[in-house]
Amino acid sequence: MSLSLSQKAMDVKPSSTLAITAKAKELKKSGVDVVGFGAGEPDFNTPKNICDAAIKAIETGFTKYTPASGTNELKAAISKKFRDFNGLDYAPEQIVVSNGGKHALTNIFNAIINEGDEVIIPAPYWLSYPEMVKLSGGVPVFVFGTKENGYKITAKQLEEAVTEKTKALVLNSPNNPTGMVYSKKELQAIADVAIKRDFYVISDEMYENLIYGNEKHVSIASLNDEIYKRTITCSGLSKSYAMTGWRIGYTGSSVEIAKLMSAMQSHLTSNPNSIAQFASCEALNGPQDDVEKMKKEFDRRRAYMYDRVKAMPYVDVSKPQGAFYVFIDMSKAVELSYKGEKLGSASKLAQCLLNDYAVAVIPCADFGFPNHIRLSYAISIGQIEKGLGRIEEFLKELQ
Ligand SMILES: Cc1ncc(COP(=O)(O)O)c(C=O)c1O
Repeated sequence: MSLSLSQKAMDVKPSSTLAITAKAKELKKSGVDVVGFGAGEPDFNTPKNICDAAIKAIETGFTKYTPASGTNELKAAISKKFRDFNGLDYAPEQIVVSNGGKHALTNIFNAIINEGDEVIIPAPYWLSYPEMVKLSGGVPVFVFGTKENGYKITAKQLEEAVTEKTKALVLNSPNNPTGMVYSKKELQAIADVAIKRDFYVISDEMYENLIYGNEKHVSIASLNDEIYKRTITCSGLSKSYAMTGWRIGYTGSSVEIAKLMSAMQSHLTSNPNSIAQFASCEALNGPQDDVEKMKKEFDRRRAYMYDRVKAMPYVDVSKPQGAFYVFIDMSKAVELSYKGEKLGSASKLAQCLLNDYAVAVIPCADFGFPNHIRLSYAISIGQIEKGLGRIEEFLKELQ
């Protein structure tokens, strides 16, 4: 048999974050006391009022198909949230509700990309963007943020990367994996380039609620009419409401793009889960106390983790302002030897940490920064304390 397979499918790299988390889970199951810093999801349960709403949805028979792009009630709740929290005016017909943020982003790429279109992705980046772009027929173009600039790209760097094939920029603030937040001024400069060179901005604001200290979340589309027209804003309930398993994400865009995404979704998946949609209305419209509590706890862990990591040898860490990740430069450590052998890469370092110290960290080669690792603080402070102690012991062994 010589039947061929899809080249596009074969070009997709499996998610390395999921692979490491799976290996750590396997070790845990076999009795090893693993500390997992890989988590990309809150360790809190979904707030009770949201769970109760889901139970009510089931008990009252809200278990059938809904309109493919989401219920009117949920779109109204999202429209209100866009207005109150983001200062954005998206009417319900400009909103598409999807099966999680990943699905919402996939819809966006498929709605705007033609074969060979270039999509600028600032690095470090969330590892799914390049794969999503390639699957939609686009070409990822990476622009590297510098440590000195908080791993963010500048408007000048962006402008230099623009060609006549540039179709879009993917912006992610607060950022996974760095936890960095773009300021209003930085966004204004980026928006000016997008307007001048006429390309779309895909603004992934999945962590918008998780910003600490004095930083404020700014939606790039809120800056002016011209950038609003070119931006597709994407968010979801996964991270802010501890609802990763419920799979609700959404977009705000022009009506024209919303119609395209809605049409595709109507054939590919139909509506997102009706029960999760019903519960999401409660999440957005109901009390926000639990969200604030989770945020406070994340902030406490962020401060603790940053202070401890900063004091470790051979590491360089920048203080994150949002999300729940700490991004660490291990360039010095990877030049050293462990058990008589040079480490050489953050992947090898992560392997040694998992095998010998039972600590799972995410090496960031697939995020575009091979000498860096990402630690998540979406685990308890006790676990963080124990895990960081082990990393410290490991670093002391390096020669
Ligand atoms: C930056 C970013 N965008 C989008 C998503 C997707 O979220 P969801 O779980 O809703 O698909 C994630 C999840 O890790 C993320 O980190």
